[in-house]
Amino acid sequence: MKECLRRNAPLDRQGTHTYDRINVAIDGPAGAGKSTVARLVAQKLSYIYVDTGAMYRAITWYMIREGIEPEDQNQVNQNVRDMVIELIPEKDIQKVLINGEDVTPHIRSLQVSGLVSQYSKIEGVRSRLSHLQRQMALRKGVVMDGRDIGTTVLPDAEVKIFMTASVEERALRRYKELRDAESVTLQQLEHDIAQRDRLDEGREISPLRRAEDAILLDTTFMDIDQVVETIVSHCRSHVDGERNHL
Ligand code: DC
Repeated sequence: MKECLRRNAPLDRQGTHTYDRINVAIDGPAGAGKSTVARLVAQKLSYIYVDTGAMYRAITWYMIREGIEPEDQNQVNQNVRDMVIELIPEKDIQKVLINGEDVTPHIRSLQVSGLVSQYSKIEGVRSRLSHLQRQMALRKGVVMDGRDIGTTVLPDAEVKIFMTASVEERALRRYKELRDAESVTLQQLEHDIAQRDRLDEGREISPLRRAEDAILLDTTFMDIDQVVETIVSHCRSHVDGERNHL
């Protein structure tokens, strides 16, 4: 698999000393608001945002379209190996391209959400994507969100956050996002989210789990601005602390 993260100029932090840049890992269960928060944190710090869930979703969408079932691990692994996957950070969204095709519009459908846990537990999928994600973070200045970033992908990230919220609150947030696009009930979303939690926490390889050194942030009663401010201030304290040691 060829790999590429295109760094667009407005999101890149040119000319900054590398000791000023840190990596930020944001993990947590489905629907905790990680993507929105991680994108805003990245904007505030002028860092690159990497949505790792979008990468697992893009692979899932591709496999569904090609008719490759998650049980057929050889086929999945072979396709993942040959795939070119690109992330293109843009102002408000991050585009995902597979073999040059923009798959972003398809990856949030209920069908993909329902199957993504099945494909993301496959070893070949995880090892390819983890490798790619590490490459993206080599130069620091990355805010990466997912399930296993603080534990497996970037265990040395300088700031690690584990973001959570109650199942009811997470389902309600997803409901508000989806209501116009697809007909779905709040109960169905609660059920889907609880099931995805079980699958993500229970899988053998890199399960969803809080890293020991991650800061736990329960956002059930927090708004987005509060969550973003809390994380940004942790990042700034870390950078200021490092600078004072020089
Ligand atoms: O964050 P999200 O809901 O878009 O993620 C979709 C799925 O991708 C999630 O159910 C599990 C998987 N995932 C993963 O296994 N590891 C990651 N680092 C990110 C996502």
